[in-house]
Order: sequence, then C-alpha cells, then structure tokens
Amino acid sequence: IDELLAEGVAGKRVFVRADLNVPLDGTTITDDGRIRAVQPTIAKLAEAGARVIVASHLGRPAGAPDPAFSLAPAAARLGELLGADVAFATDTVGTSAQETVAGLADGQVAVIENLRFNAGETSKDDAERGAFADRLAQLADVYVGDGFGAVHRKHASVYDLPARLPHAAGHLIATEVGVLKKLTDEVKSPYVVVLGGAKVSDKLAVIDQLLGKADRILIGGGMAYTFLKAQGHEVGISLLQEDQIPTVTEYMQRAEKNGIELVLPVDILASGEFPDLKTKAPADFITVDADKIPSDKEGLDIGPKTRELFASKIADAETVFWNGPLGVFEHPDYAGGTKAVAQALLDSPGYTVVGGGDSAAAVRILGFDENAFGHISTGGGASLEYLEGKTLPGLAALED
Ligand code: 3PG
Repeated sequence: IDELLAEGVAGKRVFVRADLNVPLDGTTITDDGRIRAVQPTIAKLAEAGARVIVASHLGRPAGAPDPAFSLAPAAARLGELLGADVAFATDTVGTSAQETVAGLADGQVAVIENLRFNAGETSKDDAERGAFADRLAQLADVYVGDGFGAVHRKHASVYDLPARLPHAAGHLIATEVGVLKKLTDEVKSPYVVVLGGAKVSDKLAVIDQLLGKADRILIGGGMAYTFLKAQGHEVGISLLQEDQIPTVTEYMQRAEKNGIELVLPVDILASGEFPDLKTKAPADFITVDADKIPSDKEGLDIGPKTRELFASKIADAETVFWNGPLGVFEHPDYAGGTKAVAQALLDSPGYTVVGGGDSAAAVRILGFDENAFGHISTGGGASLEYLEGKTLPGLAALED
C-alpha cells in the first residue's frame, strides 16, 4: 500500500477488501477489534484523496440478502472510528452500490452490503465467482486486500477480484504476515503453543505441523476430550470426535518420539447442564480429575490444577502462540481457564501471539489490555492455515 500511496490515489476508486466479520448481539457489536484493525488502511487512503469502497462478509448467510447479517452496524462503527460520515450501500453490485460509489467525493468512504448476500462470492464454480468479481471490478480502479481473516478463502472478492484490478496489500495484512513469519521462519525456543476451541478436527493439520516445530503443545477446550478419550479415559458427555481418535493417538506417539511435550488437562470443571449464556445464572458444576469425569457430565473448562500447570509451561517460553478458548468463557463460571492462559501470556517475557477470532475476542471481552500482548491476530482459520504452511488464496492473489 505504501507504493500505491506514493504513486498517488487521489480521485481513484479504491476497493478495500476488509474482514468486518465482527460478533454481533442483534445489531450491537460485541467486539470491534477487526474494524479497528483495518481502520488505519482506510484512513490513509481517504486522507490521500481516494474514494474508498469498503467491502466484507459477515457471518455465513445463504447467498441471498438476510437482514440478520447486514454490515450496517459495522459501517456505523467504522464511521465513528474515522470520525467521518461513511456512506452505506444496501446491496453489493446493484443500483445502490453503483449510485453510492458514483456519489463519493475524493477522500470519502462507503461500505457496501455483505458480499455473501451474492451467491457468486463463495461459489465453488470459477465462472460464477468470476462473474461476480467482474461486477465488483466495475465499481473500482484499484484493489487493496486487507481482510486478513478471510485470506484462506478462495472467494470472489478475495481471490478473483485482485486479478482484475491493479492491487496491493494493506497495512493489516502486511503486519499479520510479518508476525506469522516470526512463528514459522524465525521462531525462538522454547516455543509453546496453546490450543483450545471446540473441534479437534479444525486443529489437526496445525498440530501435525507443530509436532516438528513447537517444544510444548498445551491442549484445552472442547478438543481436549478427544485426546483424553484416546488415552483411555471416560469423558462423560463432553464434546468428542470419536473418528479422530486414531489420528490423535498417532500425534501423541509422534510427540513422545520427537521429545515434544503434549500437555493435557489434569482436572476439569464438569456439569450435567450447559450454562445459560444469556442470563449467566450461576452454573452448577464440580471439579474433577480429568480421568474421572462422571458419565452424565461434560467438561466445560480446565480446572485450577491445569491452569497452574499450563501457566508453568508458559512461564519460560520465548515464543507463545495461543488459539482457541480453554472453556465456555462466555459464562463467568467457565471463564477461569481462558483468563488464566491470557494472564500467563501476559506474565511471560517471551513474544506472545493470540490468534483467532474467538480467543482474540475473549481477551478483549474478559477485560485484558490487548496492547500488552505481542500481537493479537484478526485471523482465526487464516492464521492456523498459514502456520500449516498452506498457500492462502488471498495472499497468493496479492503476491504477483
Ligand atoms: C473468520 O471469522 O474466521 C473470518 O471472518 C472468516 O469467516 P468464515 O470462516 O465464515 O469464512
């Protein structure tokens, strides 16, 4: 983007593919981190006199307009952050978008409606995606990719559109890639990785890679129960992916062979009922050793002994990467594990990276100072796929 700004963008229509996929409670944004992260790119372009068209997806609507997934709240928040009026187009490539863009003066910003309201955005069919990208290309003269959270998606606005316009990477993508390079090419040991979140299947490929790179892998959250089951423990009605047990078993054997510590929870907060996340009524749970979860209970957070154990494994790390909450942090009674890991990262003298929409949001929602971490990534799946060593379509499209 610096080269683009040096060339001059005054009067040019610049399409910024952002990731404004923020968590919403109705129309209230509960964490605006992703909007704040892309704001500098938008502000710089506007200051330089560009006519800025901001586009993003939000949620996973079914390829047609759906008011529950409107980008209107995100557009309003962007306007507040920029301290300027931000125009809003109620469609993506239709009359509203065309008129809104045509009405932009130099230095003004518009947001167009959720790209996923058009089936062409996410289509697996190259021609259908290409046709949507052609229409998006008519709105703009230049493309800036800055939606790091979506670069792992081969979608029209991420992958096909940059091929149709002169293009550049924005500040956010440049920063995110710089940080992830530190975790792949130049990582400092001890390198500790903390993985949480619900599904073990989302993390298999990254664990596979990390078994050759990390010194310690700490596993919590819903995914831990598949590991505990693979060790022969009873996990009650906890989240479990039985079909992944053979893979997980192989990983545990490989970790041992490679001298990598794979650390599992030693105690668990378990309950017979999932907590009410709306009322946040006090939860009814017991603390049990991880090999003694009763058959009628599910694990919902790591217990106090595990929190201490994980903190001790993080304490001397030179590098820490954390992805995924350790428990149901949205309920105060099950937020302790996630808080303990966040605090352990803050206490660590090493370089700390929080990756993932959920863990990044958790850190902010639980009241931690986001600037105290080395880096908080805006990309969940994107940062994991980068660490897996995959080619990310949205980065490949910008690289030429
Ligand atoms: C995310 O939240 O990880 C990104 O915005 C991508 O969203 P998606 O998983 O719906 O493609």
